[in-house]
Amino acid sequence: MKYFDSHCHLNDSAFDGDAKEAFLRAKEAGVLPIIIIGWDLESSKKAIAMAESFGEGVYAAIGYHPENLEGITEEGLREIEKLALSSSKVVAIGEIGLDHHWFKDPKDHENQKVWFVRQIELANRVGLPISIHARDAMGDMLQILKEHPVDKGGVLHCYSGSVETMKELLKLGFYFGFDGPITYKNAKEPKACVAECPTDRLLVETDCPYLSPVPLRGTRNEPQNIPHIVKAVAELKETSEEAVAAALKENLFRLFHVKHD
Ligand code: NI
Repeated sequence: MKYFDSHCHLNDSAFDGDAKEAFLRAKEAGVLPIIIIGWDLESSKKAIAMAESFGEGVYAAIGYHPENLEGITEEGLREIEKLALSSSKVVAIGEIGLDHHWFKDPKDHENQKVWFVRQIELANRVGLPISIHARDAMGDMLQILKEHPVDKGGVLHCYSGSVETMKELLKLGFYFGFDGPITYKNAKEPKACVAECPTDRLLVETDCPYLSPVPLRGTRNEPQNIPHIVKAVAELKETSEEAVAAALKENLFRLFHVKHD
């Protein structure tokens, strides 16, 4: 297998009815391992169940996304911790973080920060890396990550910050996930970030069902579309797709400790 998808949501209702087929199409296209990411307790359980039933090369990340905190409870968080410790399919806590794009109220920002820090602490307790969602909140994100060190590292999923902030986060050891937008003509900043990001800190992901790459914009995204993103990385890095694919896969193994296939 040449490719991988480090962040997908086959557990989203957009895949009701054909999640398994989407996985098989990915496998056929050489996209394996894939990591299915939860956003609350229910979607996290679904991610684990899919990882277990689909078989080899499918993993899960579990946690509460900053847009899904209305239902979060102490008990829910304890359950995430239990699941992280009991299932060998769980390779990260995520996606967790800050979203100041959809949430403008400072009270929400404070609440997001509280639960983000709690989940960093959880990840440190269970010895897993984190998958981070950060939108329009890079300054706060950087500060929190400086104040609350992450033991096993993590990835800024679908990185949408500046090159400058990326350089600060690189010093803290983080990886950067890039998606469909790096194939879009007008996406100057993400492209600049790919060009500047050291190849040994770069990951590709679909974030499907969202963010389909060119030439598939407007359709439901799926893990099998990863080669379009790898191609864009290779162009921005001015190297071959083969070389990029091999280097990025090593990053996946290093960060998430998924099995080599
Ligand atoms: Ni996502």
